Amino acid sequence: MTKSSILSGTELSKKYGDLEVVKNVSLVIDAGEFVCLVGKSGCGKTTLLSILSGLEKPTKGQVILNGKEIDGASEDELALFRRENVGFIFQSFNLIPTLSAWENVALPLFPLKMTNEQRRKRATELLGKMELGHRIEHLPSALSGGEKQRVAIARALINNPKIIFADEPTGNLDSSTGEAIMDILNKLHKDEGVAVLMVTHEAELAKTANRLIRMKDGEVVS
Ligand SMILES: Nc1ncnc2c1ncn2[C@@H]1O[C@H](COP(=O)(O)OP(=O)(O)OP(=O)(O)O)[C@@H](O)[C@H]1O
Ligand SMILES: [Mg+2]
Repeated sequence: MTKSSILSGTELSKKYGDLEVVKNVSLVIDAGEFVCLVGKSGCGKTTLLSILSGLEKPTKGQVILNGKEIDGASEDELALFRRENVGFIFQSFNLIPTLSAWENVALPLFPLKMTNEQRRKRATELLGKMELGHRIEHLPSALSGGEKQRVAIARALINNPKIIFADEPTGNLDSSTGEAIMDILNKLHKDEGVAVLMVTHEAELAKTANRLIRMKDGEVVS
């Protein structure tokens, strides 16, 4: 792990029973880097992302995320660590349907000592940055796909993470909306130095990244 790296995985493997879906993967992501992870369906991309972000434990290997060795941590410790250090964006947005846009964005702030007004202010600020200042009271069902994903990005940013993990964030969007989401992610890494590790199926989108990591049958091939 170099001084400037935000994430490093060393000799990671994951087995489900006899099935080894991640095989001896080592990688390093530098602070502020934008990396795309590509490969065929079922090759282990989501599993690797889950391991690197501390959502799942590897069968073997070590992960250092923002200077912390996360394999020894308890579930509670990990949940807290994730909340303070990483942001997540998913293909299916994962917004809570009964909460408004700003409440969804503010959700990670709820365990912190803040007033509702402070939470709302911070969430509104981020939604403004996502050009959704006019949609803060909308429920997810009243938002377009691209708007939902921008709410999800605002939520991912609310704790000022140094790295964002995104699993096919444009998978449910049409191509021009997908490009707009890519522009936002690109801007984040260029202007704010947030590292992004993103899984995508779309070769065109992957080209805009600093670096491509290609997986095949659980292994990193290039
Ligand atoms: N909990 C589990 N138990 C058993 N096998 C699993 C489990 N989770 C994933 N797998 C298997 O591990 C392999 C890798 O899955 P993973 O979801 O990481 O693939 P992926 O590259 O993200 O695919 P996609 O592009 O379709 O999302 C698959 O063959 C899958 O069936
Ligand atoms: Mg996947």
